[in-house]
Amino acid sequence: MTGKDLEQAKNFLAAEELVAIPTETVYGLAANALSPVAVSKIFTAKNRPSFDPLIVHTNRWERVSNWVKEIPELAHTLASHFMPGPLTLLLPKKEVIPDLVTAGLPKVGIRLPSHPMTQSLLAKLDFPVAAPSANPFGYISPTTAEHVADQLGGKVSYILDGGPCSVGVESTIISFEEGRAIVLRKGGIPVEAIENLIGPVQLKAHSTSNPQAPGMLKSHYAPKVPFLLGNLTELLDQEKGKRIGILSFQQKRSHENITHQVILSPDGNLAEAAQRLFAAMREMDQMDLDVILAEYFPEEGLGRAINDRLSRAAAK
Ligand code: TXA
Ligand code: MG
Repeated sequence: MTGKDLEQAKNFLAAEELVAIPTETVYGLAANALSPVAVSKIFTAKNRPSFDPLIVHTNRWERVSNWVKEIPELAHTLASHFMPGPLTLLLPKKEVIPDLVTAGLPKVGIRLPSHPMTQSLLAKLDFPVAAPSANPFGYISPTTAEHVADQLGGKVSYILDGGPCSVGVESTIISFEEGRAIVLRKGGIPVEAIENLIGPVQLKAHSTSNPQAPGMLKSHYAPKVPFLLGNLTELLDQEKGKRIGILSFQQKRSHENITHQVILSPDGNLAEAAQRLFAAMREMDQMDLDVILAEYFPEEGLGRAINDRLSRAAAK
């Protein structure tokens, strides 16, 4: 069932059931983070391997010390500037966070979503919620309630409809090692914004399947239609004769084989492109296409998160 009833969402969560929640990045598949029974339902519904840990969500930074042992100064600084917002910080977990949530790892991902509806919901709860993106494992993340209903409708008790997500790519994930910040996933807070605040940070590359470095699986966010990333002129030539879908930043292409074309931001606005990215990939995946071709975005600001998602969609 889909709706805007916060009380109903709260009651399902309190009863250890699954509720899809809107966030500014993507929709999440939420369950009581302190209940292993509730959390295990997330893994089942998503068909997610248990070595892939979940992010824990709450509404206020002051609550976080209930669930983590210590908070480095850098984390406080980042939190005071970017939370609530599209940022996740990995912090050493207390016992109360079940091992299932972190896949046995000592740190738990903490995020404060800024979406007003989810803020209100989280404020009503006396527990935090664990929530991965509300898509079957490995598929494109959902940015509307309909996306969730299409794929997980039968597996969640309630879908809280908060409209289309405003950021459109997942949160930036940061870990701390020896007092330094490390970016594990590029996301809704650009690396430049983080570096302006705390100085240069290290970026960690993705792994292919290493359970020691989950969250960075190389192939992810992948449509079912073959997805190629590169120079569009060359790719169009290479794939000629096929029914082609094009995903581009600003420029419209003309070519006889183009069946469908999405220009993410004719004005060259990376925030607009990020906001529309996943919906465009889903839309094309449902069309009768042989291949989807995409180009690299400028490697700056949100363009870095977009390129990361495009590369993973293209990875096989
Ligand atoms: O924007 C977001 O972060 C969204 C919304 C719903 O909050 N959530 C999201 O969750 O993208 P998910 O599970 O789809 O992606 C989170 C990634 C996972 O790939 C996971 O492996 C990694 O974060 N992760 C979570 N906790 C971790 C931990 N303790 N150590 C290493 N990686 C972690
Ligand atoms: Mg995900």
